[in-house]
Amino acid sequence: MKITSIRADGFRNLKEVDIALHPKLNIFCGSNAQGKTNLLEALWLCTGERSFRGSKDRDMIAADGKKLSISAEFEDNRRVQTIDYAFSRSDMKNKKLLINGVSMKNPSELFGKLRCVIFTPEDLSLSKGSPDNRRSFCDQSVSQLKLSYRNVADKYKRILEQRNLQLKLIASGKSDDSMLDIWDIQLAQMGAYITMLRYNYCKKLNSTASALYEEISSGAERLDIVYNSTVYKELEGRIDYKGDLFGEYYDKLTGSRADDIRAGFTIHGVHRDDLLCSINGMPAKDFASQGQHRSIALIMKLSQAYILGEEMCDPPCILLDDVLSELDAARQSFVMNKIKGMQVLITCCDSSQLNHTEGTVFTVKSGRVSAEK
Ligand SMILES: Nc1ncnc2c1ncn2[C@@H]1O[C@H](COP(=O)(O)OP(=O)(O)OP(=O)(O)O)[C@@H](O)[C@H]1O
Ligand SMILES: [Mg+2]
Repeated sequence: MKITSIRADGFRNLKEVDIALHPKLNIFCGSNAQGKTNLLEALWLCTGERSFRGSKDRDMIAADGKKLSISAEFEDNRRVQTIDYAFSRSDMKNKKLLINGVSMKNPSELFGKLRCVIFTPEDLSLSKGSPDNRRSFCDQSVSQLKLSYRNVADKYKRILEQRNLQLKLIASGKSDDSMLDIWDIQLAQMGAYITMLRYNYCKKLNSTASALYEEISSGAERLDIVYNSTVYKELEGRIDYKGDLFGEYYDKLTGSRADDIRAGFTIHGVHRDDLLCSINGMPAKDFASQGQHRSIALIMKLSQAYILGEEMCDPPCILLDDVLSELDAARQSFVMNKIKGMQVLITCCDSSQLNHTEGTVFTVKSGRVSAEK
């Protein structure tokens, strides 16, 4: 996957950006608050994913403007493609989206077209932080490989909210247990499917990540990542998500109804699962040092890119937002080495920190982006 050009205007502070990218290395340099992350965020929008900053669409339109527009041209291993995306403050629901010049109704049509892996400083706490981050990481990774997954995961969240609401109604005597069944059946159907896909992804992640970790630790340490289900004791070899996996999930939900009503939320389910990382058999969350946490996070993101590239037979583009400055020299060169075959977009404040012999350096200033001569 190679992005050949990006245009953006009215996206936050970006103004009349129109740049051609280098097929390998692109470095975006500038002082703070000039628009470097905004540029990556604009591009990220073209992948169909939600903002990695968790922003609302409305906030992405320039504060003093009425509309934003982004265009990207890229080539995968088969053909050249274009994405044109625009929306205006006055008509947020009506987004104008063209894929290869053809008008599309729903931004979800963007999924799977432009494949990127983004790495931000927040990702460095992937192994240390809350399970929520690891579940999102897992969901994002799976949805890049299986486009229909995102819909199921979103629907699961909506049904879970309904069930939790119902639990509170029952606790206050305004409803009864029998009303839970319609939610439990749906949660079990979707939960079984989500578990199976996440579990299978984690197996691939574990094998890629442990090999990379062995390298980064010069063979001194072993990393293991396993999927920790709050529903199933054993998942290995189980694929019948409509049959036995569904049945066990449903039994778990019905079996814990009384506890759930007392707690006011659903105690078991994929929304409570986690990826457990361990180093030399010791759980990372309890025993890992800061540096080990960073290495695990780095390796998880690198593995995400590797697996995506392998499964799609085409390496994704790598977006590194301010990450290198957070890493020591050894980890910096490890990352740069490992992503050598992929197109990379890097933001930083000072390009002299980066050791590079090829590529294009862009200056970002007050929302304008220009290639350095
Ligand atoms: N909707 C918006 N309209 C106009 N400007 C905006 C909008 N949203 C954010 N900005 C501006 O964009 C700038 C931040 O851009 P960005 O986050 O890309 O900076 P950066 O170059 O990555 O900086 P840093 O090096 O600190 O990460 C800020 O000046 C902010 O005020
Ligand atoms: Mg930034």
